[in-house]
Amino acid sequence: MQATSAESRRIRGEYFTPPPLVDAVLSLARAHLAIEPATVIDPACGDGGFLAAAARQFPRAALHGLELDRAHAAAARRRIPGARVRVGDALRGGWDALLADLPGEGTELWLGNPPYNGTSPLLRDTPAYRALRTRLGLDEALPRGTSLRDDYAFFLLLASERLVRRRGVLAWVTSATLLDAYLYAPIRRRLLEQLELREVVDLGGGLFPGTRVRTCITVWRTREGPAPSPRFRAWIEGAAGASRPFRVEPPEWSLRPVPAEAEHLDARWRARGEPLDVLVPVSCTGLKTRFDELLVDEDPDVLLGRVDAFLRARDMASFARAQRIPLGLIPKLEALRRSPGLPARADPAALRPFHRWAGARHRGLVQAAARAYCYLDRRLIPRGDHRMVGAFDPHAGDCKLIFNVRELPLVAAVLDEPGCVPAHRHTRFAPLLVPERIRSGGTAAGREPGPLGPLVPNLSPAGLAWAERIGGPRAAFRRIAERINSPEVQDVWAPAYGTARVLPIPLADD
Ligand SMILES: C[S@@+](CC[C@H](N)C(=O)[O-])C[C@H]1O[C@@H](n2cnc3c(N)ncnc32)[C@H](O)[C@@H]1O
Repeated sequence: MQATSAESRRIRGEYFTPPPLVDAVLSLARAHLAIEPATVIDPACGDGGFLAAAARQFPRAALHGLELDRAHAAAARRRIPGARVRVGDALRGGWDALLADLPGEGTELWLGNPPYNGTSPLLRDTPAYRALRTRLGLDEALPRGTSLRDDYAFFLLLASERLVRRRGVLAWVTSATLLDAYLYAPIRRRLLEQLELREVVDLGGGLFPGTRVRTCITVWRTREGPAPSPRFRAWIEGAAGASRPFRVEPPEWSLRPVPAEAEHLDARWRARGEPLDVLVPVSCTGLKTRFDELLVDEDPDVLLGRVDAFLRARDMASFARAQRIPLGLIPKLEALRRSPGLPARADPAALRPFHRWAGARHRGLVQAAARAYCYLDRRLIPRGDHRMVGAFDPHAGDCKLIFNVRELPLVAAVLDEPGCVPAHRHTRFAPLLVPERIRSGGTAAGREPGPLGPLVPNLSPAGLAWAERIGGPRAAFRRIAERINSPEVQDVWAPAYGTARVLPIPLADD
């Protein structure tokens, strides 16, 4: 299928930098250049906004651009006739061609706003992706099974590789995921080892018309002395003029300057409590039926009738028509119907309340209006998305802590009745009671053969002692939800650490 122009724009990250932002990046970079650069390079130069501004500021510098799109490259050439603008794909050979063009000596200034799209097209080009991973030594740097989802990360690593060998400064606008996203911790670490971080400016969201992406400017410089020890301090004259030095520390290597108040809260809660995933050791992602049209309904009788009809039907087209299931889903119905071991009839015992948890709209409490029903039978829900853990059904209990502490706004609720919660974004749910073996050995242990042991509260030893002091495990779950939703977490802790660190819950008795 041909991508629409809006879609291809999004995939290629074709959002040109507004002139005031170009000027801001250039003046931040200037402050860290000891001498005028001999060469200015933008490796994803679009129509040449950065190169044009650099031509005005550094009239003697050689200007080099690389751009995937022929028309943009032509526009850049018309705009800055003195610049050498190459057409090429930086991540598939174009980078080295660009380097081959550059003068053999002199300070380099790397400017730009390389593409960020959340789903790099490179990930679908296995040989090119593998070649780049090997070149950049990413197989050792990235945790197993993870990949970089944004082109800008590859651009940064390639530029860093260059600036280790050649003196210079890099000032780029990128997605703000660079500052603190979990996935980018290995990239931050690599960059911090190779280069010297000079500036961090969090630009927030909405700077590029038609997008909501949060962006930032970072400025890096070739390191003068030896590489720092794994724990070190970076001094930043960064964000909004706040020139407070801050520590860049493992494991997150967050580049976001942390306000003193947040640092203080984090340290205090850590000293008096436990991270949420230690305090509540067992949690699961929500239920994903992968076929809500068949397996979810507001009316339990309608749902049971539909599943029963599905299990008895021979012809999926007439079944879909009779049940008003979109006809486009007939192949999906047929595939499911062919699954081995399906029961002959629907079983009323498989009907479960299904609470359509909607994140911040259900802060504290899952509203009654969110109630529907699902048909929970693992034979109809492939790939373990039913969330059963061996013989243990985590949906069955009558109390669950539901939370999303992976993205802002952090939010939690206690569901005080039986039922399932859907996999809404990064939502997890923790059953109040879990089998002893799963509590001590995790969900993997629950899938091994043998007895699971009695149901016990889903709390750490320190959490159990705390619960005893404050009215029991249910009260503890309520306290945890209140803590996550509290103004201190929402307004102070979460903006500083929310997307990078596990929330510590203080085990305070008051
Ligand atoms: C966010 S725009 C920035 C353009 C320009 N630097 C500016 O700030 O106005 C990113 C540019 O990178 C180009 N691009 C995307 N993937 C690329 C690749 N793999 N190699 C070279 N250029 C690429 C896009 O066509 C787009 O013009």
